Amino acid sequence: MFGSLKALPADPILGLLAKYREDANPQKIDLGVGVYKNEAGHTAVLDCVKKAEKYRLDNEDTKVYIGPTGSPLFNDEMAKLIFGNHKVLQDNRTRTVSTPGGTGALRVAAEFIKSCKPGATIWVSNPTWANHTGLFQAAGLTVKTYPYYDYENKSLDFDGMLAALKQVSADDAVLLHACCHNPSGMDLNQEQWQQVADVAKSVGFLPVVDMAYQGFGDGLDEDAYGLRLMANSVEEMIVCSSCSKNFGLYRDRIGATTIIGKSSAAVDIAYSVLLYVIRVIYSMPPAHGAALVETILSSDELRHEWYNELSEMRDRINGNRRLIVDKLKENGVTRNFDFITEQKGMFSFLGITPEQVQQLQDEYAIYMVGSSRMSIAGIANSNVDYLAQSIAKVL
Ligand code: LMR
Repeated sequence: MFGSLKALPADPILGLLAKYREDANPQKIDLGVGVYKNEAGHTAVLDCVKKAEKYRLDNEDTKVYIGPTGSPLFNDEMAKLIFGNHKVLQDNRTRTVSTPGGTGALRVAAEFIKSCKPGATIWVSNPTWANHTGLFQAAGLTVKTYPYYDYENKSLDFDGMLAALKQVSADDAVLLHACCHNPSGMDLNQEQWQQVADVAKSVGFLPVVDMAYQGFGDGLDEDAYGLRLMANSVEEMIVCSSCSKNFGLYRDRIGATTIIGKSSAAVDIAYSVLLYVIRVIYSMPPAHGAALVETILSSDELRHEWYNELSEMRDRINGNRRLIVDKLKENGVTRNFDFITEQKGMFSFLGITPEQVQQLQDEYAIYMVGSSRMSIAGIANSNVDYLAQSIAKVL
């Protein structure tokens, strides 16, 4: 059976991480995978998570099955984080389930869409997160792209995006990034969200919003602005969220899929299908990460501590955006990189060629994805001079 297989190349993001770990160069810099790092280059466990873990250790008294939905308290807290006090919650039109990370949330959404319409098409931004396409195709969906990032002008191709979305069929799904677009860092502004919501309403496609970085852009509510606006306009929608980045729970694999239906009764039917979808893939989600998140979100003290830790991560990344742009100028680079300071979240495209990206890796042990996507959190005061000088040489 296995004899017919052909080896596949390493994943473009995770493969890079493995290479970085093997590199013996003491000056190496990891700007690859999207994980937060502190000034010392370490992805530390958040203090609020440590406290929640201690609380769980002292208080957890069973590991018995929870069921396909995961913990109801986690699901309720996540729904509030996503929607605030939005009317869809008051109208009881949402159902949230815990999932194994944000990728699990997307895969559950994809399988659910397939149950609604086998072979459905999902439109994703060009570019999008490297795993979106494979993940949706693996679930049997057809993937098509709409214009999004204008590489030439380092801006959003909003006219192209809107024109493409107007041509989408009412039976299709459209994937939107809630905030901190991965990989470009280029987000829609409030007015653009309104226009996309208007198109979604008039065309009737299903918006699927991926929110992997809530809190990393402008703030928790600010980053959910677009999807809340969308929820004002459409009858059905899916939101996939992740606690990997904003709670730093990467390896605990915790996220959520939320469906919005036309009515409470309609969403109950959809929910029964969602539960079946989960049952036949992995039966039930892992519980540990959800237990930590619900402990934090349902305690005033821990929640407050989490806000502060999240703000600190966001501020450091924004500071790094300014830092690298200034250092490039200091090192005589005349090309304009100011766009990096205007973008949001973990990533920006540096906008150099794949050959230059490779040269940075081979000659300077600086690792970024081949598209020149940089994970801004990997920049630190201790490495920014070396980074800017290396980029200057390569340019
Ligand atoms: C990334 O884009 O680097 C992150 O979302 C991590 C991943 O799984 O690819």
